[in-house]
Amino acid sequence: MDAVVARQVSKSFAGGRQALSRVDLAIAEGAIHGLLGPNGAGKTTLIGTMVGLTAPDEGTVEVCGLDVGRHLHRVQTLVNMVRGFSGVIEKVTARELLTYYAHLYDAPLARVDEVLRLTGLWERRHQEVALLSSGWRQRFFIAKGLINRPRVLFLDEPTVGLDVDAALAVRDLIREINREGCTILLTTHYMREAEDLCSTIALIADGRIVAEGDPAALKALVRGPDLPAPTLEDVFLRLTRQTLEVADA
Ligand SMILES: Nc1ncnc2c1ncn2[C@@H]1O[C@H](COP(=O)(O)OP(=O)(O)OP(=O)(O)O)[C@@H](O)[C@H]1O
Ligand SMILES: [Mg+2]
Repeated sequence: MDAVVARQVSKSFAGGRQALSRVDLAIAEGAIHGLLGPNGAGKTTLIGTMVGLTAPDEGTVEVCGLDVGRHLHRVQTLVNMVRGFSGVIEKVTARELLTYYAHLYDAPLARVDEVLRLTGLWERRHQEVALLSSGWRQRFFIAKGLINRPRVLFLDEPTVGLDVDAALAVRDLIREINREGCTILLTTHYMREAEDLCSTIALIADGRIVAEGDPAALKALVRGPDLPAPTLEDVFLRLTRQTLEVADA
């Protein structure tokens, strides 16, 4: 079964180009599905429609079989979202802030210590979130994203700005969360990260899905005499540039 299904989703913002144009996207339950595309391609907007932050102008989105527009509150108990460079940094400890989020989600308080352990934050639970290093702070935001035991977790550039070691730790954590049964949609500008983590990938450019498949299938799309062993970066550059050239023409 698919955990998330977007059908013909379009969205425009006042004064701007169309951010999403008839997007169809399905994320299989249990997948780590990558959503890759240039800056401004529509990734965050699409995630917004899936978590109920952004209402599409046209089309529908279903999460775990529920229409997001019609069952918003129910859907919001089933999903959560983590963004890179998440803004809110309070002068309270990791455990206090997670307790606050547990209350917000009506989650059992035992879940706070569970997510602290799962994310490796247990030893730092009494530290102020504002004083954590970027890598640990990002793990804190992932802990927050897990507080309601989401069936689907949306990770919007979760490793942006992290050093090599911290990014590796976050990737390991993403794998572990997925092993425990959580479906994940991941956006990233790091092709290596997408290749390491994602079972399936959709490429988006100028608000349109331009290709989809597992990394090997995507590479097969651009393989040729001039490019006998394409990397995911080659796939990205070829397919998104083609789309942008057509859109600008
Ligand atoms: N609230 C908004 N108001 C107006 N325009 C918006 C709004 N949100 C997004 N846009 C526009 O919609 C388009 C898609 O933006 P979006 O943030 O979804 O891209 P993205 O793929 O997430 O990019 P990035 O890789 O930079 O995060 C862009 O042209 C952006 O300027
Ligand atoms: Mg974005």
